[in-house]
Amino acid sequence: MFPALVLEKTPDFTARVRDVDDAFLPEGDVVVDVEYSTLNYKDGLAITNKSPVVRSWPMVAGIDGAGVVASSSSPRWKAGDRVVLNGFGVGETHKGCLAARARLRSEWLVPLPSEFSTKQAMAIGTAGYTAMLSVLALERHGIRPDQGEVLVTGATGGVGSVAVALLSRLGYRVVASTGKAKDAGWLQELGAADLLDRQELSVPGKPLQKERWAAVIDAVGSHTLANACAQTRYGGVVTACGLAQGMDFPSSVAPFILRGVTLAGIDSVMAPMHLREEAWARLATDLDPRSLDVITTEIPLTQAVATAQELMSGQLRGRIVVKIH
Ligand SMILES: NC(=O)c1ccc[n+]([C@@H]2O[C@H](COP(=O)([O-])OP(=O)(O)OC[C@H]3O[C@@H](n4cnc5c(N)ncnc54)[C@H](OP(=O)(O)O)[C@@H]3O)[C@@H](O)[C@H]2O)c1
Repeated sequence: MFPALVLEKTPDFTARVRDVDDAFLPEGDVVVDVEYSTLNYKDGLAITNKSPVVRSWPMVAGIDGAGVVASSSSPRWKAGDRVVLNGFGVGETHKGCLAARARLRSEWLVPLPSEFSTKQAMAIGTAGYTAMLSVLALERHGIRPDQGEVLVTGATGGVGSVAVALLSRLGYRVVASTGKAKDAGWLQELGAADLLDRQELSVPGKPLQKERWAAVIDAVGSHTLANACAQTRYGGVVTACGLAQGMDFPSSVAPFILRGVTLAGIDSVMAPMHLREEAWARLATDLDPRSLDVITTEIPLTQAVATAQELMSGQLRGRIVVKIH
């Protein structure tokens, strides 16, 4: 028997840590002893049942995990390999990694870069790997540090805080948009050169505004994303990965057809393996491990439900790592 954070609908929704056995796990060709998992925004939605993330019941929560292969019937992996799992519907349609053991599919796993411990990998998690995918998208579209300021929205969140740390380490001048004025010093420690009150972006604005940003990494959506596009300089690039403010996008085509702005969508869940491996390799070289210490709070599995509720209230900052063993 081993502990798992089990989500059930019988018919009322419950989320609690309880002991399960191997027979409870789904099919898969690799069994992983999970050392650390994490709470992403999507885990918060699933564990609080705030939106229909879970599509198969009962579910074990946890879209991310890092640990050691216990057994494998796939030639890709052998017992003792250190691996990372991000997304692929784990914690949504396939039982997840907020558990001491997970049975997964071999083609979903990425080798843990030797630079990282399993705890550091989960300090990065889907949020940090998505921040890296966003930086890679900016680079693919030709953005370089000498082109001007880069705006990061939802800056104290998981995606935002890793994006601030990554971009500043790469030499960009980063402007962090946040609703948490009290965390200004924390954002500056991560590398933000300047701060913006998120209220300036979160209300309806004009379709074209004063040009400011060479690029934007947005995790917020809604009016924030619309205003970010409207303030992006000629030829600039905006990445969109999130919906912390809302799923809507009340914008116009003006920034795209009059300023040649590019809107680049970022998906981490089904991202192809070559992109995942590129992102993890770049995280290993470009992310200062000291910034992971700054952004990480560790909790035990038994605190995951209560912490998911706090995460959904928008009051936490940085990344929550869940120690399983
Ligand atoms: N596309 C993908 O594959 C992918 C991958 C990872 C995450 N995401 C999405 O990206 C978003 C951020 O994820 P995360 O893990 O960084 O979440 P998070 O840690 O909860 O951070 C979200 C941040 O957004 C800001 N925020 C919250 N409510 C807001 C509101 N009403 N208006 C404006 N800003 C608000 C807050 O930052 P401040 O207080 O600093 O403003 C908050 O810390 C989520 O929507 C998540 O689902 C998508």
